Amino acid sequence: MNTKPTILTGDRPTGALHLGHYVGSLRQRVALQHTHQQFVLIADLQGLTDNGTNPQKIRDNIPEVLADYLAAGIDPELTTLCLQSALPALAELTMLYMNVVTVARVERNPTVKNEIAQKGFTRSLPVGFMVYPISQAADITAFKAEYVPVGDDQLPMIEQTNEIVHKMNSLLPAPLLRHCQAILSDTGRLPSIDGGAKMSKSLGNTLQLSASEDAIHKAVSAMYTDPHHLNVSDPGQIEGNVVFTWLDAFHPDKTKVAAMKAHYQQGGLGDRTCKNELETCLQELIAPMRERRATYIQDKGMLMQILQQGSERAHEVTQTTLREVKRGLGLPVLF
Ligand code: TRP
Repeated sequence: MNTKPTILTGDRPTGALHLGHYVGSLRQRVALQHTHQQFVLIADLQGLTDNGTNPQKIRDNIPEVLADYLAAGIDPELTTLCLQSALPALAELTMLYMNVVTVARVERNPTVKNEIAQKGFTRSLPVGFMVYPISQAADITAFKAEYVPVGDDQLPMIEQTNEIVHKMNSLLPAPLLRHCQAILSDTGRLPSIDGGAKMSKSLGNTLQLSASEDAIHKAVSAMYTDPHHLNVSDPGQIEGNVVFTWLDAFHPDKTKVAAMKAHYQQGGLGDRTCKNELETCLQELIAPMRERRATYIQDKGMLMQILQQGSERAHEVTQTTLREVKRGLGLPVLF
């Protein structure tokens, strides 16, 4: 019997993944797949909640995200990679859970509130978008996941999931659903190249896992440092200096980074030297991922086969939960 704790996590396939994802989640998943029973969900249905009129974007990005997973080192032998739209139990559980969540509660979710403001939705808000946290609760509970590795923006989803678990369990003859806990990445959110909080491909302020040598060089050269550090001999500031935040996130030698920081603050260490150090470690990190990714993305058939195999496994697991919940609610389970 498998006694490893279960993990579920996932991404909306709205674009290829970048170094922010690598630091925030991919790297962690690669480590966790050895110690946990890990499911990673490509959340295409959730991606559609704000791309309902542009399904092609979601469809096209499924293989992109999958190629990123494999390139980063997620191993389909150790991690079950699955597709949300292939798992009907997730949609059915969503329907059941929607009845125990009030409109007021949905409107109070701070992440959803932020997203609504950012996207400029008012009354034009798609109903599906409003309730995506309920569908996410279905994702998590269908796998009976104990741990959910996510970014801090997803904490309200975990809280809402646990409320649903509590309510549903009180309606069921036994606590069939499991409460879950977030696992936050040990490195905080990676700032973008220009020092802003939001990284995105369209803003051109991040690096994809497929970034070319030249793109890496340009990104590091353009990176925001301390604007008051004009001469090498001047003391420089570490706080808000993207080069040092990235060195913290990527450099394998922490002692060396600590020494560089001290030197920089004291004066006498130039931005160019720091940037060279960072560039070397990014080139070394990205080169093998770029090569693997290029091979995988050419073989969409292989990618889809991996997704199909994983989804078959996930289908069994999630169907079992759905059947238990239906039975527990006294609904006839006809097949
Ligand atoms: N909301 C997550 C995101 O935007 C994606 C997601 C969907 C997810 N279902 C999930 C994450 C279940 C963790 C668990 O990235």
